Amino acid sequence: MQLFSLVSMTVDGQRILISPQDANLVEVAAKLKINIPAPCLKSKRKNGCCKACLVEVDGKKAYACTTKPLANMNVTVRTRELDSIRKASLKAYRTQVRTGAAAACQCSG
Ligand code: FES
Repeated sequence: MQLFSLVSMTVDGQRILISPQDANLVEVAAKLKINIPAPCLKSKRKNGCCKACLVEVDGKKAYACTTKPLANMNVTVRTRELDSIRKASLKAYRTQVRTGAAAACQCSG
């Protein structure tokens, strides 16, 4: 039997329990029905790096796909600025995929 303790963190003001099996903030936010766009994560980064998963973690910008959830973390997804940056990143990523101009992802850890 595996023993581990559950701890919590906050995403857009909603508290959620996390476990060591939670790999990244995209997965944790999804449990709260908060969508963080992560097309390159979902495509296993075969088309490069989207940078569309930008969030704020304890007030600092970070990529949700490569950030491991930790106890007492405070994550902000929805702000006008972050929504705008993610929208522009998604647009650039789609262009990159369409034109085949993919570069190796630099934020996959
Ligand atoms: S999902 Fe593409 S950079 Fe995070």
